[in-house]
Amino acid sequence: MTAPLRAKDPIAVTVSLGDRSYDIVIGGGQLGSLGRRICALRPGAKAAIVTDETVARHYLAATEAALAAAGIAAASVTVPAGESSKTFPVFETVCESLIAARIERGDLVIALGGGVVGDLAGFAAAVMRRGLDYVQVPTTLLAQVDSSVGGKTAIDSRRGKNLIGAFHQPALVVADTALLDTLPAREFRAGYAEVAKYGLIADADFFAWLEANWQQVFAGGAARDHAIAVSCRMKAAIVARDERETGERALLNLGHTFGHALEAAAGFSSRLLHGEAISLGIVLAFAFSVRLGLLPAAQAARVERHLAAVGLPIHLRSIAGGPPEPDRLMELIAQDKKVRRGKLTFILARGIGDCFVASDVEATEVRSFLVEKLAEQ
Ligand SMILES: NC(=O)c1ccc[n+]([C@@H]2O[C@H](COP(=O)([O-])OP(=O)(O)OC[C@H]3O[C@@H](n4cnc5c(N)ncnc54)[C@H](O)[C@@H]3O)[C@@H](O)[C@H]2O)c1
Ligand SMILES: [Zn+2]
Repeated sequence: MTAPLRAKDPIAVTVSLGDRSYDIVIGGGQLGSLGRRICALRPGAKAAIVTDETVARHYLAATEAALAAAGIAAASVTVPAGESSKTFPVFETVCESLIAARIERGDLVIALGGGVVGDLAGFAAAVMRRGLDYVQVPTTLLAQVDSSVGGKTAIDSRRGKNLIGAFHQPALVVADTALLDTLPAREFRAGYAEVAKYGLIADADFFAWLEANWQQVFAGGAARDHAIAVSCRMKAAIVARDERETGERALLNLGHTFGHALEAAAGFSSRLLHGEAISLGIVLAFAFSVRLGLLPAAQAARVERHLAAVGLPIHLRSIAGGPPEPDRLMELIAQDKKVRRGKLTFILARGIGDCFVASDVEATEVRSFLVEKLAEQ
């Protein structure tokens, strides 16, 4: 693994998708370059910023100033913070505000916030005037390493998360890593589960680097920028090869089948943040792989040690209010993933940095594994 770059040098990662290719610009202080970058990309375009109340308090004025410095007029719409903004009523407010701000084809929507704002504003951009360009300015670790890259946009249905959405790639991603300084520690830690996930999927050297350097990643500066850049590079490469998730992109769901079920059982609440559920999901995916005889138990133990060291949950009993029953979990897993003739698709591990998509996992085996796990916890 190469040495981290100096923090003041922005790192650029390109998502190569032909004429829809775009750059992810990563570095501390990069919000200040937003206006200049937008001018270069879409000269003369107007912009509308979509953000949430918490992010607006911290960064809306700085974002408007960065745009104004480049002569870009920008309207803004601020939604309540949290997952409850990924709903039809809030979506309608955003669309009506964009229309009122006279955002037209050739203009830009700017998503300033975490994954909630990115998904909501991205979906509005996907359907408004049959498609507007948009720029992601992710402000959470999760959004900087995951949700702002790859073009998945969505809002939630009453019947499930992310059920109403579209693939719509951004025109640019500006990840100012200094904005993470105001992120609550619990949110940062939850986002880190996705960073560790990249190492576990396909980059054992990166995982080893994280084991040695995670404290510096949490502290900020060059190590943090490096971890975000490595994560974005891997996601960009996978998205470039499999934009619509017909194959390889599913690897990014490591820990997500178990994780989503646990998150749903906890009611998508602060009882269990997404990244915390993913930490538990990764632990379960590795333990299940051991049970299937795919890798030695010592490898799974190493994964657990690292997640526990950074303060992420690794035991089902640590879920506030207690873990769900096995049958409830199986029901939620079946809802999330299609069960075909009793078979499930899972991301399994042959080792750290060596995961694969298994589409023929017996539901009965998953159930007995969960019964055992819940009993031992
Ligand atoms: N599109 C994708 O590919 C993709 C991938 C993963 C997750 N997601 C979605 O992302 C969402 C979760 O994203 P998230 O974890 O970023 O949650 P979030 O957007 O709700 O942000 C978490 C909290 O942190 C606050 N916040 C954001 N930036 C801050 C900052 N710099 N300083 C202080 N507070 C800040 C927000 O106001 C919010 O309260 C989910 O809806 C999930 O479905 C989408
Ligand atoms: Zn995730």
